[in-house]
Amino acid sequence: MNTYHISVIPGDGIGKEVVPAGLRVLDAVSAIHGFGLHYRHYDWSCELYKSTGKMMPDDGIERLGDSDAIFLGAVGFPGVPDHISLWNLLIPIRREFDQYVNLRPVRLLAGVPCPLVNADKKKIDFWIVRENTEGEYSQVGGRMFEGTDREFVVQQSVFTRHGTDRIIKFAFEFAKQQKRLRVTSATKSNGIYHAMPYWDERFAAMAKGYPDIIADQYHIDILSARFVLSPERFDVVVGSNLFGDILSDLGPGVTGTIAVAPSANINPERRHPSMFEPVHGSAPDIAGKAIANPIGQIWSAAMMLEHLGEQQAASTIIHAIERALCAPDRRVTPDLGGNCSTDELTDSIIGNLK
Ligand code: NAD
Ligand code: IPM
Ligand code: MN
Repeated sequence: MNTYHISVIPGDGIGKEVVPAGLRVLDAVSAIHGFGLHYRHYDWSCELYKSTGKMMPDDGIERLGDSDAIFLGAVGFPGVPDHISLWNLLIPIRREFDQYVNLRPVRLLAGVPCPLVNADKKKIDFWIVRENTEGEYSQVGGRMFEGTDREFVVQQSVFTRHGTDRIIKFAFEFAKQQKRLRVTSATKSNGIYHAMPYWDERFAAMAKGYPDIIADQYHIDILSARFVLSPERFDVVVGSNLFGDILSDLGPGVTGTIAVAPSANINPERRHPSMFEPVHGSAPDIAGKAIANPIGQIWSAAMMLEHLGEQQAASTIIHAIERALCAPDRRVTPDLGGNCSTDELTDSIIGNLK
């Protein structure tokens, strides 16, 4: 029997509510499909920061290093500045483990109402490939003349050839593997003077190697409008760290709720563990109320199993989510218009695992 070692970091806010839900589904599906999961639990969070001054111990990255995967909830909570909490836990994990691909599916799930009136809803089914280790997310820069009226801040973006080429290549390879027709690049080369013309240049060069795939590009502003006006036209959308971040909340918004959206932070070479987490954050406004929708976390668990080679178990989970959402007597959380709890929706998904 295969057994996988999973490092579990619930983190903050609703992360502490949806991660246990995800683990319950993982336990149930592993029993059905006959593999083992061994968890190592870590309480790394803003709470830990408040008592120790650290989001994770000094050897945190080392401790995660030999896991088969990392299963994370959400990081960041009022009381600790976001740039402190995120740059001392989530972002270092992505970088230290070179998880340079952030893969985020955008799919209208059966049973989730789509807010768009005109879209061909059956066809909203595409992937965002987000660069995850460089770009606009950078600590290069600083504040000068602090406290004076000459004060200014410089924030640098970093686009390396290696980093730019590998994410664009991943997008084309992924489109090929998924038998998708089109790769769309998110750019802003009319305004961002150095980085985005460079991104376009590397995208055009890579596209030449994939003559069977349609390569197109849009500036991020009109691309955002097209996400809403014609989401069915996309297959794979590739973007820098910041553009990919924004598009990967917009896409799930277009498909009804960000609460169901999953993500995979992947090190494709498998030299380091990959990390699986929902797209959403710690949701301080509903934390502690036991009403968080667990589907983003549970779908992330499915992406993790797929990454580990347990494809059948992954699709068992996806089908169970859809069956639970489509049941005539369905019980869903408030974000989907219902009044049930995180645990009740999780029970209903577990009841639909076959
Ligand atoms: P958020 O995603 O936490 O919440 C946005 C809105 O969506 C809120 O109204 C929230 O209640 C709702 N929502 C989110 N997930 C939900 C779920 N599972 N069920 C029902 N409703 C849900 O975004 P935010 O408010 O911008 O961020 C809150 C904190 O989380 C911040 O500290 C932020 O930095 C952090 N954050 C972390 C991650 C991550 O760990 N990957 C991602 C996004 C935000
Ligand atoms: C996400 C989040 C993070 C990001 C934040 C919390 C740093 O928004 O995972 O999408 O921007 O990567
Ligand atoms: Mn985000």
